[in-house]
Amino acid sequence: MDLNNKVAIVTGASKGIGRSISIFLAKQGVKVVLAARTKEKLEETQNIITSFKGTSIIVPTDISKDNEIINLFKITKKEFGRLDILINNAGTVVRGKLVDFSTNDYDKIMNVNLKGVFICCQQALKIMISQKSGFIINIGSNIVFKNYPEQGVYAASKHGIVGITKTIANEVQHYGIHTALIHPGAADTELISQARPDLGRSALIPPDDIAKTVLYMLQLSDNSWVDEIYLRRRTAKPS
Ligand SMILES: NC(=O)c1ccc[n+]([C@@H]2O[C@H](COP(=O)([O-])OP(=O)(O)OC[C@H]3O[C@@H](n4cnc5c(N)ncnc54)[C@H](OP(=O)(O)O)[C@@H]3O)[C@@H](O)[C@H]2O)c1
Repeated sequence: MDLNNKVAIVTGASKGIGRSISIFLAKQGVKVVLAARTKEKLEETQNIITSFKGTSIIVPTDISKDNEIINLFKITKKEFGRLDILINNAGTVVRGKLVDFSTNDYDKIMNVNLKGVFICCQQALKIMISQKSGFIINIGSNIVFKNYPEQGVYAASKHGIVGITKTIANEVQHYGIHTALIHPGAADTELISQARPDLGRSALIPPDDIAKTVLYMLQLSDNSWVDEIYLRRRTAKPS
């Protein structure tokens, strides 16, 4: 697909992987709606995009709040009149053994990583079904192929995303809407220092590699699509 002048929402655009994806999309001429909670960090992303004359708007959004998600899609439609691409990237992690894990932390993870993705997909589909086109890429995790101690609820949220994404894929393909999953291994962001404090930074995946994977998927010809990509650290064990 030629990405020039397409419209994308990227959640979690204030730092890490979401910032890289936003910048890479904007460099291709995509108009990017930057969503996350921290306005100042979103402004940093926007300043980078503006420096190469890319187009973006900021919509501060807490993805755990349904009304804020609805507002995000309303503003996007009002500003640009359409939505071509949704990247569900916002995510959070809290470590802890399941036996002691609080229901507050359970809700915190699930409300962002799973319910947020579900509501964002619903809102995007309402626009995309009427357009009869659109792409949704959900950022999962290598945790769906492996299992790590003290990340049980995070793992459950990412397994949930797999179920939702694969179901939507079948429900909406006939409208010309395509969905996909990218499962990154450990990438060099703030999240990984909480999730895997045991890992040295030098072998981590650069967030730009995940952004390049997004571009690879979106820039395929109209006759091809990739449902799922697992991008692992080269030094990690092959699964
Ligand atoms: N880094 C890794 O190794 C790795 C591996 C596998 C999968 N992933 C996945 O990749 C995605 C991005 O993670 P990252 O590594 O880039 O982490 P990060 O650097 O910590 O960034 C997380 C992003 O999510 C946003 N976010 C968190 N809670 C939010 C909320 N309630 N509402 C809106 N935005 C929220 C943050 O923005 P605000 O704080 O400003 O709201 C931030 O922009 C996540 O889904 C994560 O699970 C990461």
